[in-house]
Amino acid sequence: MPVANAKEMLLEATRKKYSVGAFNVTSLVQMEAVVEAAIQMRSAVIIQTSVTPAKFFKPEVLAAAYRALAQASPYPVCLHLDHCTDPEFCKRCADAGYTNIMIDASLEPFERNVEITKEVADYCHRTGDITVEGELGTVLGVEDNVKVSGGQVALCDPDKAEEFVRRTGIDIFAPAIGTAHGVYKSEPKIDFELFARIAEILNGREIRAPLVIHGGTGLSDEVTRRLVGLGGSKFNVSTELKHVLMDATDGYLAGHLKDYNPGKLDAAVFAATLEAIRRWMDILGSAGQY
Ligand code: 13P
Repeated sequence: MPVANAKEMLLEATRKKYSVGAFNVTSLVQMEAVVEAAIQMRSAVIIQTSVTPAKFFKPEVLAAAYRALAQASPYPVCLHLDHCTDPEFCKRCADAGYTNIMIDASLEPFERNVEITKEVADYCHRTGDITVEGELGTVLGVEDNVKVSGGQVALCDPDKAEEFVRRTGIDIFAPAIGTAHGVYKSEPKIDFELFARIAEILNGREIRAPLVIHGGTGLSDEVTRRLVGLGGSKFNVSTELKHVLMDATDGYLAGHLKDYNPGKLDAAVFAATLEAIRRWMDILGSAGQY
């Protein structure tokens, strides 16, 4: 399948009431496992990179690997840049071949958020078939370089959601609804009613902007399914995959350090990641949709 942007696959997911997993990767082994899981599960999938790994590997290198992997899958695969606060780096990733870009200006005042987000959306739409995610309200926790403390948390104002989408021209929308990045230290305080209201305002009559759930790690299956049922059609998971990678590495090395066989270490990380992604695809309902 040729490469795909996020919007097409998420329109389909919103219509059919399932969610596409968006998995943050920090290595090529993880990237391979994400796409293999999608092939095995007959699912669309979104590969995400945060800014730090994108800079480390270089966007052009990641985009080349992505293109090759996507071509090997019969189902749509998207490459998404996650939580980028720098419009210039967003543009570089769009030029390199990312198919969905998240500009995160959510810590800025509303007007400035609109201005920055629109600049990136306009650029991506001019450049090619590249879709854009924007965020309103702030998500607690740490995701790469974006750090939001308790005092900075603000849920999405539902009355501003339509205006934000209309004025910025974004394709998919991430409202802050009380989920958090990282490991939940206590029960997450998710405002389901707020999310339902935003879904109704934006997508009730026609689907204008598919909705994104941030902070997937640690949510119960029940909470996840409820958010999917309410219209969350992109579901972000990052921290869990970092844990899977480190734990699989640690587990393998504990018994095999002196084998000096990195291929087997890669295989252990691949297998653990594959299992984690398959589980998410089942819960999100994307499995078997193609
Ligand atoms: P977690 O790290 O909590 O899974 O959040 C992922 C995320 O929302 C990435 O944007």
